[in-house]
Amino acid sequence: MSTRIGIGLLGLGTVGAGVASILQTPEGRHPLIADLDLVRIAVRDRNRTRPIALDESILTTSPEAVVDDPAVDVVVEVMGGIEPARTLIMRAIAAGKSVVTANKSVIARHGEEIAAAAAAAGVYVLIEAAVGGGIPIIEPLKQSLGSNRIQRVSGIINGTTNYILSRMAEEGADYNAVLRDAQDLGYAEADPAADVEGLDAADKIAILSGLAFGGPIDRNGIYTAGISTLQSRDVDYATQLGYGVKLLAVAESMEPDPSHPTSLPLAVSVQPTLVPNDHPLAGVNGVNNAILVEGDPIGRVMFYGPGAGSGPTASAVVADILNIAGIRQLKPADGNLDPLLAASSWRACHLANKEQTSQRNYVRFKTENAPGVIGRIGSCFGDHNVSIQSIVQLEASDAGAEIVVITHVVGNGQMSAALKAIHAIEGVLSLDAHLGCL
Ligand code: NAP
Ligand code: HSE
Repeated sequence: MSTRIGIGLLGLGTVGAGVASILQTPEGRHPLIADLDLVRIAVRDRNRTRPIALDESILTTSPEAVVDDPAVDVVVEVMGGIEPARTLIMRAIAAGKSVVTANKSVIARHGEEIAAAAAAAGVYVLIEAAVGGGIPIIEPLKQSLGSNRIQRVSGIINGTTNYILSRMAEEGADYNAVLRDAQDLGYAEADPAADVEGLDAADKIAILSGLAFGGPIDRNGIYTAGISTLQSRDVDYATQLGYGVKLLAVAESMEPDPSHPTSLPLAVSVQPTLVPNDHPLAGVNGVNNAILVEGDPIGRVMFYGPGAGSGPTASAVVADILNIAGIRQLKPADGNLDPLLAASSWRACHLANKEQTSQRNYVRFKTENAPGVIGRIGSCFGDHNVSIQSIVQLEASDAGAEIVVITHVVGNGQMSAALKAIHAIEGVLSLDAHLGCL
């Protein structure tokens, strides 16, 4: 049997070009890379100038031609979007070809269907690049941390928004200008709304949650708030109070719910969150991501590194190709999969109702600049059993005052009821910000 492995790339953009560049320069890397032949590449526009030198005869505008090419053993999907990416992945599986993909939106929505088809066909679908860019987090969750009962996975898992928030905090940079820089650097999704509205992070926490807790959750039910409406004054106030603001994704196991005894309830959310300056996530800046995994018996481990960009993401894609290449060299495909690498679901999980979950909160009210308003807000929180850590008036003028409250951990249902009641208090004009707080 030939030891050479034919690679078909679907996409030659930021990630695809990074993958091609690694495959073209095997010297000094793992020797298996020299056995990989890049035989076919699908693009949308054959005439576009590419950042790497290529034999143009391997380019095609037909992704189906890449999947169906008998010289292609492994299909690498780095084109993005849901369709036709999903159909092409399923087509490759049906043809008995393993797939490597960086596409979190497809995996978060169709991961179960794809995994079932791959298991039936005896092929792998590997997704290291779908979460955390170059950070190894998928394989550690599938393999190295397999002995643990995971309690919580949390972190900064979108490079674009972390880059924007870092530059806003460090330089007072303009949001739209920094977003354009993130696009130019190849960090942002084709539609950057996926980044700034928190949707990309929600896709990624859905994937991490499935691996950490053993079962899929309803991607569309994840509470998701992005940074597009975050105001720079909240970043400034957070700084004054000793915090940074990060787009934080969290998946946490909860106490079993008697009405769902056979399924594990999970609190899963994505939202801008105040992170205390001495917290390990506070120093994660720029395009870097970090994922904290908390489990028994390991305690807490943090995975840190570049969360987006051509080289780091290609590093993760090629690692997956090498995993498949290594197994192929060990034994020819016989339909039996390595259960750790294939990672199928082993438990039922469901999203807990947000009202039943709890967190610390940062809220900012606009009020009249009048005596007694802070006292009335404080009493109203107390009446709803919301314990306050700090309440400060940060700006006051004839036009009004700004009151910022940080709570202790409190049920989201209690918090919503308190905010509704505070809205009706005389002198309270509006609730202008509500963020999470670690
Ligand atoms: P990109 O720069 O927009 O590249 C997409 C590539 O796919 C382009 O080469 C495009 O062709 C090709 N393409 C798109 N639709 C096609 C179609 N219907 N037929 C043939 N070719 C098609 O995207 P990217 O940033 O590399 O991202 C690719 C995937 O990786 C996405 O799923 C993304 O979420 C994921 N990802 C990206 C990063 C990152 O840092 N960028 C990190 C992790 C994961 P043309 O070049 O001719 O337009
Ligand atoms: N747009 C994504 C991000 C790419 O900024 O994190 C990496 O998945």
